[in-house]
Amino acid sequence: MKKEFLDLGRQPIANKFLNKNEFNDEFFFDLKVVFDDKTKLVSLKNFVKPEMMFNESYAYHASMSETMKIHFQDLAENIQNEFFPTNVLEIGSNDGIFIRHFNPDTSVAVEPCENFADIVKDMEYKTYAKFWTKELSSLIKQEHGTMDLIYAANCICHIQDLDDAFLAVKNLLSEDGIFVFEDPSLLRMMERGSYDQLYDEHAHIFSVTALSNLLDKHGLEIFRVDNLNVHGGSNRIYVKSIDSDIPVEMSVQMNLNEEKNFGLTRFKTYEIFSNRVQKSRDELLSMLRTLKEEGKKVIAYGAASKVTTVFNYCGIDDSLVEYITDTTPSKIGKCQPGTHIPIVSPDDGFDETVDVAYLGAWNFRTEIMNKETDYLSRGGKFITHVPQVMMFS
Ligand code: TMP
Repeated sequence: MKKEFLDLGRQPIANKFLNKNEFNDEFFFDLKVVFDDKTKLVSLKNFVKPEMMFNESYAYHASMSETMKIHFQDLAENIQNEFFPTNVLEIGSNDGIFIRHFNPDTSVAVEPCENFADIVKDMEYKTYAKFWTKELSSLIKQEHGTMDLIYAANCICHIQDLDDAFLAVKNLLSEDGIFVFEDPSLLRMMERGSYDQLYDEHAHIFSVTALSNLLDKHGLEIFRVDNLNVHGGSNRIYVKSIDSDIPVEMSVQMNLNEEKNFGLTRFKTYEIFSNRVQKSRDELLSMLRTLKEEGKKVIAYGAASKVTTVFNYCGIDDSLVEYITDTTPSKIGKCQPGTHIPIVSPDDGFDETVDVAYLGAWNFRTEIMNKETDYLSRGGKFITHVPQVMMFS
């Protein structure tokens, strides 16, 4: 049975940055979150149609971050050195940040957002601008054979029908092939109070426990789990066919134990989390109102999709946060979904008039702190709500 534990109010499409003439037609949905006490999966109660989120105007551009470029290069090298895959498939290849490290003659990309599919096509990779389904996996099998590596980053948690997605993987995996995917970790979200991992695209936030239950149904088994720092704490899950001889490593049981000890298998833990989220909202609003009364100029740094959840849930608009700076060209000049706070380039907006910046891209905190030494040394401050609402410099 699915039980609701969190209500984050009316929310827009988190990555649909708007021009002024689009404000009136904006789509909103009720962002509620449920826990399935049978599979232990945490999901959104109401899914948004995939075509509304993942299309030719999708804004998330993975290569915008140096941290992520290094992250994917390291992973590609490690996988090549350990598993020697020949046929490679990436589901959700975005701008090619990972697949670019593999041979175009033996690699295939799947990317439903046409703006990004075109980039990968231009890099000479065979690219299917389609959603990942059993039907597509059969077509790819026919045209390219089975795959030794199927990889997906921040994509499987977007897929609403996980049974179909895992069936599609099983169908296409070679005998000793591996399926590696990484997505935000439910445990880290719960520990850090980072409720902003919840937005339209994240149909599910995975625990290792829930994934193990779901994969098992399709003859798939987790053999390794890496805990990663990216995206506010993610898990990289290594999966094999149940019949493959690849040994199951200790990291799997260790993660299952850690999740159980934290309480991820009990509904009560989610109710406690919900209370923490409400407290976080009250504290953030109170801090921003005080800064306003003191006459401080407050902006936000990084128009991440996560900020859409926070600002819409808390009711923060341009009376509290003047604008948001972001380096992504397709976001600059537009407005944040829901709140309609303007997005500007850091070159124009991150200047000496800024007193305080809400760190929207808190998952890139180290990269940003290293970059913004001038701001910090002149007394500029940052605000975050993770793990609790605080100001720091
Ligand atoms: P993400 O957390 O969904 O990856 O989004 C992070 C956003 O923050 C993305 O739009 C790029 C932006 N950003 C900056 O504007 N400046 C930076 O230094 C970094 C690291 C990210």
